[in-house]
Amino acid sequence: MPNNYDASAWFYDALAQLVFGKALVKAQQFLIKDIQPKTHILIVGGGTGWILEELARIQPCNLKITYVEISAKMLALSRKRNCGQNEVAFVHKAIEEYQLSQKYDVILTPFLFDNFSEKRIQSVFDQLHQCLKLDGWWLLCDFQVQENRHQLWQKVLLQTMYLFFGWLCNVETKTLVKMDVYFQQKNYVLVKEKTFYQGFITSKVYQKSTNF
Ligand SMILES: C[S@@+](CC[C@H](N)C(=O)[O-])C[C@H]1O[C@@H](n2cnc3c(N)ncnc32)[C@H](O)[C@@H]1O
Repeated sequence: MPNNYDASAWFYDALAQLVFGKALVKAQQFLIKDIQPKTHILIVGGGTGWILEELARIQPCNLKITYVEISAKMLALSRKRNCGQNEVAFVHKAIEEYQLSQKYDVILTPFLFDNFSEKRIQSVFDQLHQCLKLDGWWLLCDFQVQENRHQLWQKVLLQTMYLFFGWLCNVETKTLVKMDVYFQQKNYVLVKEKTFYQGFITSKVYQKSTNF
């Protein structure tokens, strides 16, 4: 199976911090800060699971979280996290292979889609769209290459990451696909957004407005 981060699990967070400082964490803190009690959340590709501790800091109880991760090693690290009194169901599966039987208030996909080919993006997007409640939030963060003076270093850094994680974790793409169009096609409303790391990281909160 492609895109499995097993081989990088033991050093992933340290490397991320070395390269990006606190930017990856801040990008996700921005997304989750308005999460209310009793929210039912689906997290896909949560990595080592530090996001579970961040969620517990904001809402220490009454969250119901489904945590789907393809990497057994990432999942093992995530299980050790302090989740407070929140109820977390850990699922060791690729999201494509997980039968989503319930509807969620919030879906979080942190640096997930930038691993995928267009074909996989479309099918995973459709799958997740179906299981998000009407008016629910889709919290997305990913890398982006801007069309401005930062374009060159952003391209170089992105390709370096694709080379490294392509080799180590079998990441299937070397091309970043713009996600906006998927959300526009399904009439999502962009509620708020913010960029980090001189625009290379983008965090967006989308709200689902139609069920089609
Ligand atoms: C780039 S890492 C990001 C980790 C974490 N979100 C973070 O920001 O630190 C992508 C994560 O998604 C997981 N992943 C990739 N494809 C997946 C899939 N199809 N289903 C579930 N998890 C997946 C990988 O194993 C990895 O842990």
